[in-house]
Amino acid sequence: MAAIVEIEDVKKVYDGGFAALKGVTLNIEEGEILALLGPNGAGKTTLISTICGISRPSSGAIRVGGHDTVSDFRAARSLVGLVPQEVNLEPFETVWRTVRFSRGLFGKPKDDTLIEKILRQLSLWDKKDTAIRALSGGMKRRVLIAKALSHEPRVLFLDEPTAGVDVELRRDMWEIVAGLKADGVTIILTTHYIEEAEAIADRVGVINNGKLLLVEDKDALMTRMGQKQLRIDLQDRIATVPPALHGFDLELAEDGGSLIYRYDTRADRTGIAKLMAAMSEEGLVLRDLQTSQNSLEDIFVGLVHEPEAAA
Ligand SMILES: Nc1ncnc2c1ncn2[C@@H]1O[C@H](COP(=O)(O)OP(=O)(O)OP(=O)(O)O)[C@@H](O)[C@H]1O
Ligand SMILES: [Mg+2]
Repeated sequence: MAAIVEIEDVKKVYDGGFAALKGVTLNIEEGEILALLGPNGAGKTTLISTICGISRPSSGAIRVGGHDTVSDFRAARSLVGLVPQEVNLEPFETVWRTVRFSRGLFGKPKDDTLIEKILRQLSLWDKKDTAIRALSGGMKRRVLIAKALSHEPRVLFLDEPTAGVDVELRRDMWEIVAGLKADGVTIILTTHYIEEAEAIADRVGVINNGKLLLVEDKDALMTRMGQKQLRIDLQDRIATVPPALHGFDLELAEDGGSLIYRYDTRADRTGIAKLMAAMSEEGLVLRDLQTSQNSLEDIFVGLVHEPEAAA
């Protein structure tokens, strides 16, 4: 897969002097769904606005489809659709006119068949002649998506598409996103919901304090999540893991006072019983046992609360 969005060491310092992005580098592959997780104020909206050309990077460069977002703004902007975090619609306009007008803003020729297809896809067709102010909050969010899709973008940014929406609409939104991916659209979404990232993303990025802390394949993260640790405290310290135990994923800790055993909770057998038998044969006496599990949430919380590394 080729990168459709290339972000190179992007920094953003707002007018008041606040550094909201402190050097972000990231390639977004064509056709993937990337979920950006991060606490309030992390820089998610700033990053998205900068990629979409609404805000300029203070330094660094961004290219969309090979077009620089500053020097080649129009070409870059025409490839992206943005569903903003805040609802910003004209209350007295109808759904139909709102979405149709949005396409015109990008200089694309009228295409009522396409607008109809988008409205149907988003279950808005029966509301097409309704004024925006007479829609529910969830419907307004759908109109925002319809607007963002009206000029057939290759990359769609969804800034917290499911914040404050009910469970059903959240699932609908996930289905919509999956459908768009099937149509070949690249999708970047921000979210506060870890289960949302788990449900739909191909890759997960964690951003905090203007820095991208991690970008990893979701399945790899899930595998890590599925891992559980068993800590075995020993009666007597050992210098090395005995050869008879080399077949187990063991690590010596606490100066030889403990063994850490990693196993997959989703595997048929954990291997614990075998390990215990092998340890007993080696004459190792246990003092205590403790298990702990890594979840995406732990990884996230751990990353976000880590003391900032010296910049
Ligand atoms: N126009 C602006 N001028 C000055 N500072 C800003 C501006 N916009 C955002 N900031 C600051 O930049 C930081 C990042 O804001 P941003 O909106 O990107 O966060 P976010 O990750 O989207 O948060 P949230 O989850 O709350 O939406 C915040 O500290 C914010 O106060
Ligand atoms: Mg935001």
